[in-house]
Amino acid sequence: MGSETKVYTLQEVAPHNNAKDCWLVISGKVYDVTKFLDDHPGGDEVLLAATGKDATDDFEDVGHSSSARAMLDEYYVGDIDSATIPTKKAYTPPNQPHYNQDNTSEFIIKLLQFLVPLIILGVAVGIRFYTKQSS
Ligand code: HEM
Repeated sequence: MGSETKVYTLQEVAPHNNAKDCWLVISGKVYDVTKFLDDHPGGDEVLLAATGKDATDDFEDVGHSSSARAMLDEYYVGDIDSATIPTKKAYTPPNQPHYNQDNTSEFIIKLLQFLVPLIILGVAVGIRFYTKQSS
């Protein structure tokens, strides 16, 4: 009895996103927290903001106590079909123009900027020295 677990898709859970009907998805399970909204120590707004998506990270980030975790059972209504949850976005660095990651060419340019005038000066002094001596 009662062993059948209802499996919801995220699309089914998502419309339960208001103060009169609020469902959360946490760790693969679906919770109807409508009755808990007024009692949640963190306030109803955070719960409402966590609807329509996998709220596991939101729930975990707060570092809820074990008694908070124990309360979850009370609101359990079924499981979530994990295939309907968009996969976590892997961190993609913001789209930036491709800067030259390798600084070698920059270094060579700096070195040349420094060396070329020195070489010219050296050559000039050398020529001057040489012509003075030979004349
Ligand atoms: C059914 C799910 C949830 C239950 C049963 C629950 C329960 C609780 C409980 C009992 C506390 C008091 C502190 C503790 O014992 O850890 C708490 C605090 C808090 N909860 Fe939740 N919570 C739930 C979901 C969420 C979600 C999805 C968020 C979203 C961010 C959230 C945000 C917070 C915050 C910010 C606090 C801290 C409040 C404060 O210390 O001022 N909770 N929650």
